[in-house]
Amino acid sequence: MLEKIEILKTGKAKALYTTSDPSKLIMEYRDDTSAFDGKKIEQLAGKGTVNNRFNGHIMDHLQSKGVDNHHIEATAPNESIVMSLDMFPIECVVRNFAAGSICKRLGLEEAMVMEPPIFEFFYKDDSLGDPLINDCHITAFGWANEDDIEVMKELTLKTNDILVTLFDSADLILVDFKLEFGKSDGKIYLGDEFTPDGCRVWDKETKKKLDKDRFRLGLGDVVESYQEIAHRLGINLT
Ligand code: TMP
Ligand code: ASP
Repeated sequence: MLEKIEILKTGKAKALYTTSDPSKLIMEYRDDTSAFDGKKIEQLAGKGTVNNRFNGHIMDHLQSKGVDNHHIEATAPNESIVMSLDMFPIECVVRNFAAGSICKRLGLEEAMVMEPPIFEFFYKDDSLGDPLINDCHITAFGWANEDDIEVMKELTLKTNDILVTLFDSADLILVDFKLEFGKSDGKIYLGDEFTPDGCRVWDKETKKKLDKDRFRLGLGDVVESYQEIAHRLGINLT
């Protein structure tokens, strides 16, 4: 079995460890929950396990539909083996309905339909508040090339099609989400995570928020809501 050797990187909710195989890392999901670029942080018991199980299920589903990603297998309730990728310092966001920062930025009412879905790039830098950027910033500052940009957009929109269908089948609305990509041997893979920490999900009927907005807005029942999404999607959390 692959063992953790040393910590490579600590994020706000996860940690990455090197292993005896240089092509593989172990991703640990902690209970830490952060919002507003790290300004609000709390420990929520059980969140690490829910997110690890949730992510594994979604990544396997995406892989089966042709979205190559870094997930290999879970090794513990809150840990998974992933491919080591050279990550782009970029966040790819798709919005199917207006919520969060786009409402403030453009004065939109929450829940307005985005048709076609809106794609946005953000620069991954908490100290700058993850600013909105476009293709020109990415190429000018050497964060990725034009081909990489096209692949990231294509894979993000494909992921949206796949997951909108999956969530809809569980009477859930996938409002928006964020993806991060990286490269290995010249090929782009989906990396990081897909969990309720990085997407917005509403109940189709009641529009109840079931994602990290419960934490951001102090609505309570954060982990319970993540568990409810997982349960509806048939994800085994044990
Ligand atoms: P936003 O409304 O804050 O721009 O976020 C859009 C979606 O992307 C939302 O589901 C949260 C997710 N997201 C992150 O998880 N981390 C980030 O750093 C950003 C910018 C967005
Ligand atoms: N920027 C994201 C949020 O507000 C992630 C974070 O800051 O933890 O949720």
